[in-house]
Amino acid sequence: MAAKITASVYTSHVPAIGAALDLGKTADPYWQPVFKGYDYSKQWLKDEKPDVIFLVYNDHASAFSLELIPTFAIGCAAEFRPADEGWGPRPVPTVIGHPELAAHIAQSVIQDDFDLTIANKMDVDHGLTVPLSLMCGPQDPVHGAWPCPVIPFAVNVVQYPVPSGRRCFMLGQAIRRAIETFDTDLKVQIWGTGGMSHQLQGARAGLINRDWDNAFLDRLIEDPEGLSRVPHIDYVREAGSEGIELVMWLIARGAMADIHGGPKPTVKHRFYHVPASNTAVGHLILEEC
Ligand code: DHB
Ligand code: FE
Repeated sequence: MAAKITASVYTSHVPAIGAALDLGKTADPYWQPVFKGYDYSKQWLKDEKPDVIFLVYNDHASAFSLELIPTFAIGCAAEFRPADEGWGPRPVPTVIGHPELAAHIAQSVIQDDFDLTIANKMDVDHGLTVPLSLMCGPQDPVHGAWPCPVIPFAVNVVQYPVPSGRRCFMLGQAIRRAIETFDTDLKVQIWGTGGMSHQLQGARAGLINRDWDNAFLDRLIEDPEGLSRVPHIDYVREAGSEGIELVMWLIARGAMADIHGGPKPTVKHRFYHVPASNTAVGHLILEEC
């Protein structure tokens, strides 16, 4: 009896997608192609019925500020309230955690030489709630609920210094070892979120790099080890200052079986679309064989 990772999901977290959902604009010609890219994913998630989602995301100064900047923070609380910059807290259900599994992962990963910050109270912003909305569809904030408990795992990709892709990839491997030693039968999905190319400020604001994004998706599937060696300056140069969010995808990828001597995952779904606000939207579902 043990928990096991069944799949990994990768998706952008554009805050304007949350606003489009919350303001009833999903059928607008601008947004329709974005949401269409997730039709398959919503049905897939319903069919898969995970018991827990380990959701790697970044906070945008909603839970943390410049006063305290954890590189990696694991949410060990029983629940996490929506909060946000910009449009404010989204009208979505409170996120229910899984304190037992989160505490086990913290214990295992810290003993496995990674420094995690334990968050027993943490609000979650669009970095976490937009991927949930895209994958689960709209949820009523009062009567609705997300389909399963979620362990939020916040990565600092906002304030320098940020962790390298290599460190993220190795951390994903430690997270797999942790999940596999939790002695309860649980189907766990790991999600890597943020990206793809975008830059929100400065002379290059609005930068999108389709070729680089698609090469990133190819390499994430076929050559994650090589991809993990790309230095952070390449992300910034090629994918824009906020493109660095993509290192979070390597945490989820490092947790897949093939990195640990097992079979390659199956590509269940791949989607790429420009534009969505200032961001290229990328999305991938990899299922364990
Ligand atoms: C946008 C994208 C982000 O990742 C973010 O955190 C804020 C804004 C944008 O495209 O506008
Ligand atoms: Fe962001």
